[in-house]
Amino acid sequence: MKSVLKPHFRSLLLVLLVSTGTAWAQDETQVEVFKSPSCGCCGKWIEHLQQNGFQVSTHEVNDVPAARKKLGMPDRLGSCHTAQVGDYVIEGHVPAADIQRLLKEKPKALGLAVPAMPPGSPGMEAANPVPYETLLVQADGSTRVFARH
Ligand code: CU
Ligand code: CU
Repeated sequence: MKSVLKPHFRSLLLVLLVSTGTAWAQDETQVEVFKSPSCGCCGKWIEHLQQNGFQVSTHEVNDVPAARKKLGMPDRLGSCHTAQVGDYVIEGHVPAADIQRLLKEKPKALGLAVPAMPPGSPGMEAANPVPYETLLVQADGSTRVFARH
C-alpha cells in the first residue's frame, strides 16, 4: 500500500477531498459512535479506536439510552456510549483488539459489551484498574464472556 501511495499521494489526496472519502473509507474499519456531547471518557475511547486503525464517525446525541435501544442492546448491559461496526453493536469501553477479533471471527451475535465503565478499560485509564470482561451479546440479550481483561 505504502509504495503505491507515495508517488501518487497528491492525486490520491485530491480524490479523497473530492469524493469525501467514499472509496477510501473501505480501506479502514468504520465505526459509528453515539455519545452525549458532555462525555469525556467517550472521547478518550474514540481516540483509542483511532489509534488502532479505526475510522470513527461521532454522533452527539442527548439520549444515549434511546440510541442503545434502537440498536437492540439491552439496558442492563449499558455504558456511556453505544456504537456500530458493520452489522455489530459495540457497547461501552470495549478494547479495539476485541472489536478486531470480533470482525475476524464473525460470530453470530448482536455485538460486544463492556457494561458500566470499569476503571482501567480503554478511555477509563485509572490508577486502580479493576478486572473486567468483554461480553458477546446475542440478539435475545443472552451473553457469554468473549474476553477477560
Ligand atoms: Cu465512559
Ligand atoms: Cu463513553
